[in-house]
Amino acid sequence: MQDNSTYKISSEVSSKINKWLLKFPDGKKKPAIIYALHLIQKENKYIKSIHVDALANFLNLKNIDVYEIAAFYSMFELEKIGKHTISVCTNVSCMLNGSDEILSYLESKLKIKVGRSSDKYFLKDERECLAACCGAPMMQVDHKYYENLTKEKIDKIITEIENE
Ligand code: FES
Repeated sequence: MQDNSTYKISSEVSSKINKWLLKFPDGKKKPAIIYALHLIQKENKYIKSIHVDALANFLNLKNIDVYEIAAFYSMFELEKIGKHTISVCTNVSCMLNGSDEILSYLESKLKIKVGRSSDKYFLKDERECLAACCGAPMMQVDHKYYENLTKEKIDKIITEIENE
């Protein structure tokens, strides 16, 4: 990660964005925003206003065009977060199969409240259905799915992360 006070889109990211732009008619830059934000977030862990400004400048768009997308989609983080992101689904199937208990257990095990972050973990706001209802209750850790959760299974997952 580079010093964000002088953020400039990296050559690797800019070259990927330019390649992506070739899919769209000349001058149509907005379709690249989501893709570019993913790349920038991957390099920087979360999206700061200087990233928004740099991307808007790179795409020759207004800052608000980029910011409204970064702020709207839940996959973009606008605040500093821990190394591992955990998202527990609390939609109907998961809720009926104990997601509230799973979430409480994670809060107490990781000593963070939902929506908050420690240096190591970010327990994301409760998620809508993550399309794994047959494995309810479930969660994502860094976008990897874990299903049929129990407290014991969570202990094992967290131990594996701790031993990485
Ligand atoms: S309700 Fe949780 S994955 Fe669908």
